Amino acid sequence: MTTKELKEKYLKFFEERGHKIISSASLIPENDPTVLFTTAGMHPLVPYLLGEKHPMGDKLVNVQKCIRTGDIDMVGDDWHLTFFEMLGNWGLGSYWKEESIKMSFDFLIKELNLPIEKLSVSVFAGDSDAPKDEVSAKTWESLGILKDKIRFLGKEDNWWGPAGKSGPCGPCTEIFYDSACHGKSGVAGGGVEIWNNVFMEYNKKIQNLNTKVQTFEYEPLKQKNVDTGMGVERTTAILNNVKSVYEIEPLKSIVGKIKELSEIYDERGARIIADHIRASVFIISDGIMPSNVEQGYVLRRLIRRAIRYGKKLGIKGSFTHKIAGIIEIENKDFVIEQLTQEEEKFGKTLEKGLKEFEKKFFAEKSLSETAFYFFSTLGFPLEMFLEELKNKGIKYDEGKIQREFDEQLKGHQELSRTATAGKFKSGLADNSEQVVKYHTATHLLLASLRKVLGNHIFQKGSNITAERLRFDFSHSEKLTKEQLQQVEDMVNEQIQKSLLICCEEMSLEEAKKKNAMGIFENKYGDRVKVYTVGNEKDKFSCEICSGPHVTNTNQLGHFKITKEEASSSGVRRIKAILE
Ligand code: ALA
Repeated sequence: MTTKELKEKYLKFFEERGHKIISSASLIPENDPTVLFTTAGMHPLVPYLLGEKHPMGDKLVNVQKCIRTGDIDMVGDDWHLTFFEMLGNWGLGSYWKEESIKMSFDFLIKELNLPIEKLSVSVFAGDSDAPKDEVSAKTWESLGILKDKIRFLGKEDNWWGPAGKSGPCGPCTEIFYDSACHGKSGVAGGGVEIWNNVFMEYNKKIQNLNTKVQTFEYEPLKQKNVDTGMGVERTTAILNNVKSVYEIEPLKSIVGKIKELSEIYDERGARIIADHIRASVFIISDGIMPSNVEQGYVLRRLIRRAIRYGKKLGIKGSFTHKIAGIIEIENKDFVIEQLTQEEEKFGKTLEKGLKEFEKKFFAEKSLSETAFYFFSTLGFPLEMFLEELKNKGIKYDEGKIQREFDEQLKGHQELSRTATAGKFKSGLADNSEQVVKYHTATHLLLASLRKVLGNHIFQKGSNITAERLRFDFSHSEKLTKEQLQQVEDMVNEQIQKSLLICCEEMSLEEAKKKNAMGIFENKYGDRVKVYTVGNEKDKFSCEICSGPHVTNTNQLGHFKITKEEASSSGVRRIKAILE
């Protein structure tokens, strides 16, 4: 069975049981600034788990792309991946433990025909926050899971969430699949975890936000939710009776390609490269460029770590594009361009860094200060710094350097945040007539940029005054004169066409179905306003936005780009006026 077939089967199974299919959200969370990536299918659903009504109803199902970096040291074993797809079904106050467990059981046994004797489960043992989960254990028993295949475990194993610092969470029951070739990696007597059913009935709340030592409270939620997650790659591997996720497509072909390119073959190294490049491809595709902050930094580290392993394996020359080429993705050319650019940049960084290493190393700085200097001025990664120390036979305490390095990094980031906080005002300054015009022009500009440069363009910031608009967007290269002219002409063409601007209110889901752009949708809650420029059949732009806007593009006057410059790494900035 392929991953595609498994996904189809899963969606159909739950659809037949009253679930509505929702689309995969972006890898970049829209509702939670405390986490960098979407780590589970429940992530975009947090408001609904907390009690808001979901426009599609109270039973949902989907396939969600996820990034998890917490297990990075395990990546390269048989089962761990940085990027993976998660099958998930949700009951938002509509069904509870018995029904959820029964559906999971039926899907595994009746739909996928897995033998019952290979399954084992774990359930929550209970503690001072929540009682022992007897209901789940009894339900598993009633379905034929033998008592000695049911383990009671504590919070560290059988409690899931919240995804960020606070939010919905609860006890869970995990399902493991055991077979001779699937090792003894699971906690429930061996096997590999394939599915997790979480019973989210608590809201983890931080009690004393302003003190250093924080305590938490588990407050009962308004509704009892079921949140499940099944790994697509793992389950497919099991169904195909292979011993690792790297033996199913597309990972198998990717690892194969790496083998072909390597001079010194190392299975784990090849898997790490395969995993990291694949994750990077999907992160870039969702609009993130390599940089030194937040998601961009994680991306940079993944790409650079892959390149470092590539060197260890003796891969010659630029190679990330050869691997990315195998992965099915919409904006492939753009993604490959980004990867290749980062590969070139890293090549230069390494060369420079290694030279500096010879010169600067014995300066009067501590090791961690030197490491941070290398990182902040040259982009030379800490891991490489440590490796160089090793090569030179210098003894060091890795934990200590890492801790001190992190401290410096934190200080560095806080400094730049404070510096920008006062200056950067996003969105509208006021609602004067001119500001409203600039706001509409911004929508025309975004749509034109996407048409001229490609669908990797997303809004990264906007600042409007009565005098001008300033718009930041994801793109890493300077725009050529021709491109700028094309964008400017396209905006003016829409102004001349006297297009109507129409505003409709709808659910977020409906807006997404209409392909409305909306990275700031979290600000708008469940019902959103969608502004469309042009008629429904031939719309030029469609964005989720709180408005206000002019009613016809002919009110805007003449649009002129006055400046194009870099804003930060991977982000360009355009300033424009209406004359
Ligand atoms: N949110 C749960 C998980 O990721 C289902 O395991």
